[in-house]
Amino acid sequence: MSQDTRSLARDLAAHVQWMALSGVDEIPPGLPWPGGAAAGEVPDGEGASAPAAVDAGDAGAPASGLVATDLGGLRSEIGDCKRCRLSAARTQLVFGSGNPDARIVFVGEGPGRDEDRQGLPFVGRAGELLTDIIQKGMKIDRSEVYICNVVKCRPPDNRNPEPEEVDACSPFLIRQIELVQPEVIVALGKFAAQTLLQTTTPITRLRGRWHEYRGVPLMPTFHPAHLLRNPAFKREVWEDIKQVMQRLGMSAA
Ligand code: URA
Repeated sequence: MSQDTRSLARDLAAHVQWMALSGVDEIPPGLPWPGGAAAGEVPDGEGASAPAAVDAGDAGAPASGLVATDLGGLRSEIGDCKRCRLSAARTQLVFGSGNPDARIVFVGEGPGRDEDRQGLPFVGRAGELLTDIIQKGMKIDRSEVYICNVVKCRPPDNRNPEPEEVDACSPFLIRQIELVQPEVIVALGKFAAQTLLQTTTPITRLRGRWHEYRGVPLMPTFHPAHLLRNPAFKREVWEDIKQVMQRLGMSAA
């Protein structure tokens, strides 16, 4: 392979990876290809192939399409993200925090005002309650678990993230979970649970039962912000957390 071809192949691979990150997983047949031929046909040019013939990843490549091999590398790979419009209103991206080898990953919806200011997940009032659940309830330090969100940038006025914002961000969450390799995921609230499980089933029916996200057991429970408004639901959350502890062989005494 000549130097030119190698560099072209590298550019093409980067472009395909970018498309995958942007949510493109297929190129419709018949799409005009710059230069005349349709996707799937071979355009003019020495040995060139149309994009549909290009494999987006090596065998064994991560499902996220991201290549970082640790969380720090993943944060760098995300960079000063502008992949969706949430970037316009954020103060900073909130990647995630905690133990890179955690047995439990907690996934929330997206950063709120306090998280956007501090750059860390679950540091506001809902975060204090989550910290109590972990430290007072589970009797482990918050630093022992890993905490992140479905979207990494604050939705303006704390609105729900839009589907295209979730799609743009999902490779990052997938790679975080691939890298941490937790034994259990706890989905905090309706939005995280429904997004991870790709369902519209209400959280009241999802919680309290085991599900699976990409091969990892997942327990949905109510969001801590919901508990701040409805403290009576703490009992259900504690039941859900006890199931998590039981599964991990932790004592819930
Ligand atoms: N709510 C979330 O879902 N995530 C946070 O990080 C904070 C509040």
